[in-house]
Amino acid sequence: MAFPANRLRRLRRTETLRTLVRETRLTPESLVYPLFICPGTGIRKEVRSMPGVFNLSVDEAVHEVREACALGVLSIILFGLPEKKDEVATGAWAEDGIVQRAARAIKSAVRDVVVMGDVCLCEYMSHGHCGIVKERTKDNAKAERQSLGAAAAAPPAIAEYEILNDASLELLARTSVSLARSGVDIIAPSDMMDGRVGAIRTALDGAGFENTPILSYAAKFSSGFYGPFREAADSAPQFGDRRSYQMDPANIREAMREIELDIEEGADIIMVKPAMPYLDVIAAARHRFDLPLAAYQVSGEYAMIEAAARNQWIDRERVMMESLLSIRRAGASMILTYYAKEAARLLA
Ligand code: PBG
Repeated sequence: MAFPANRLRRLRRTETLRTLVRETRLTPESLVYPLFICPGTGIRKEVRSMPGVFNLSVDEAVHEVREACALGVLSIILFGLPEKKDEVATGAWAEDGIVQRAARAIKSAVRDVVVMGDVCLCEYMSHGHCGIVKERTKDNAKAERQSLGAAAAAPPAIAEYEILNDASLELLARTSVSLARSGVDIIAPSDMMDGRVGAIRTALDGAGFENTPILSYAAKFSSGFYGPFREAADSAPQFGDRRSYQMDPANIREAMREIELDIEEGADIIMVKPAMPYLDVIAAARHRFDLPLAAYQVSGEYAMIEAAARNQWIDRERVMMESLLSIRRAGASMILTYYAKEAARLLA
């Protein structure tokens, strides 16, 4: 029956009525707080392009986690800024790596926190790519171009380097086991190599960590929204880009295949990333798969809200909460967000 029998405004009249019929709710426990750990002590260095986000030394990170937990944010994810970078990402899997040290300190200081460890090589590689790089000599690449019939004057049709898939799996698996040993509760690979979930599952099981879950960055798009993170984590690729391993932003069907394969390989939680520009992907994943679904509200999403708010173009708190609510409404069961602490404060 139509108007006037139906008036949807009847249930919008008061906040109490609106609360009664609200379909989606945010809770602090469903938020995951990302932290960037750097060497040193007493360090709290703000990231230029992410006001309110800091590089933290281990001792400062422990304070930050205590605060988050007190607000009801019980999960964190760790990223590391190592002392040194090299061509085999030693800092990622070293026993005394920066994230390993942070995980040990946090787990012994704060009892119930769930510590996730981002597994990727880009922060630890001198070239900033997420896997092992094989450089191809200019002559080689040129010969290949010619054999493909490319015009001599045409720009290179083939990359002069390659990110090796299978060779990188070994380092990712080694990193995962090392993180599990240091007390990390959930292993979260974000590199986008094919087969990494399976390789990590096998390695964890082989090392006695069969109960350690894997949260897979399953549908991770090659996105301009990661810009500020690369400053925060000092992980920008020194040449080229990540398009040969991260997903094309145009593809949602391929995203479903990525997720499906990760589930087959043993993922316990799947993730879509970024979040707000990819709400359709989150919704499709929610309908199609029954695993817990995470979404990452990434650095660029955060930076845009902060920048607009600083210009007084938007109401910062309102947009922050609306963005998180929308990601939940699309179907995410948990959200990785730099706003975790602040959102929890507003929810209290
Ligand atoms: C590591 C990684 C990135 C992010 C999470 N893990 C950067 C990237 O892939 O370039 C992005 C997170 C953010 O932008 O907030 N590979």
